[in-house]
Amino acid sequence: MACGGEGAGGGGDTSGNKPADLTIGVAMPTQTSERWIADGNSVKEKLEAKGYKVDLQYAGDDIPTQSQQVDQMITQGADVLVIAAIDGTALSSQLQAAADAKIPVIAYDRLIRDSPNVNFYVSFDNYKVGVAQATALLVGLGLQNKDGSKGTAKGPFDIELFAGSLDDNNAHFFFDGAMDTLKPFIDDKSLRVKSGQTTIEQVAILRWQQETAQRRMEDLLTSSYNDGTRVQGVLSPYDGLSRGIITALQNAGYGAKGVKMPVVTGQDAEIASVKLINDGVQNSTIFKDTRLLAEQAVVAAEAFLQEKEPQANDTKTYDNGVKVVPSNLLPVQTVYKDDIKPVLVDSGYWTAEEVASGQAKG
Ligand code: BGC
Repeated sequence: MACGGEGAGGGGDTSGNKPADLTIGVAMPTQTSERWIADGNSVKEKLEAKGYKVDLQYAGDDIPTQSQQVDQMITQGADVLVIAAIDGTALSSQLQAAADAKIPVIAYDRLIRDSPNVNFYVSFDNYKVGVAQATALLVGLGLQNKDGSKGTAKGPFDIELFAGSLDDNNAHFFFDGAMDTLKPFIDDKSLRVKSGQTTIEQVAILRWQQETAQRRMEDLLTSSYNDGTRVQGVLSPYDGLSRGIITALQNAGYGAKGVKMPVVTGQDAEIASVKLINDGVQNSTIFKDTRLLAEQAVVAAEAFLQEKEPQANDTKTYDNGVKVVPSNLLPVQTVYKDDIKPVLVDSGYWTAEEVASGQAKG
């Protein structure tokens, strides 16, 4: 046994230890988005219910803070690390220290890149998230039906595109899935990106900031829609960005006095956005059940603690630049207004009162 042992912690052979002697470090990016709060709480509750100790930290979307938190988890003797990275490329030295101390690392939802020391990845099918977002946009515009068949609308429709933070590996998967789906419609001219901004670099929003998305939408309206034309659809990869985009549109008169709100997509089923969908303001969101993801992280952490390899359902897709990281990917679900009750309320994710108020009760 290299290290580990009675309460000393810190990786090594942990298979003989009692849960109470084992600590799982959980590093989450930010508390400004509900989903990460729910993720952190779920992982902590599920691990504590099994008797483990949990060190849960949020980094306020600040990269040095997250690096420091992970460093500290290692020096304080964590036995497994579960990390949702802010910048997927910024943790190499921390992960090297973890490997040196024989601490397995589970990348949580966001792949950690450029390091050989990522042992497992739990996430959703991120490419399919993008496909689902683009499909919701097509359905909202009437170019496609929900069953995938051709819709009755012809276009051309003017749309704009947004992507997430370039340092988040997921942002690229979402955008690729969406663009592969939209491309045939852009090619046959039923969709037109009026600003001409179609590369991920042009449309990305650093740190997934709502205010930055609002500003970009305002700029697009002034620069590309000052000739009386109206934007009819906006591909948005995350509910927080969607709310910034919607605010910019509302400030410019969309959604009032006969000016139609464009079809705006989203992701995460954040409560404020679920209310907007219920009110007919936002078109849709993509629901990723963070309770199931937390469960997968716990299963993987326990496997490592018992000196076993967690079971992967994908060993091809997630190349982090150094190696393909074995992954467990969960399915995703599109939520339109009609799906709120069966998918979100009936499963206990949100209550009907929360949907009506747009606020989580906590
Ligand atoms: C997650 C999304 C989330 C986004 C912003 C991504 O890595 O997969 O669910 O919307 O980060 O927090």
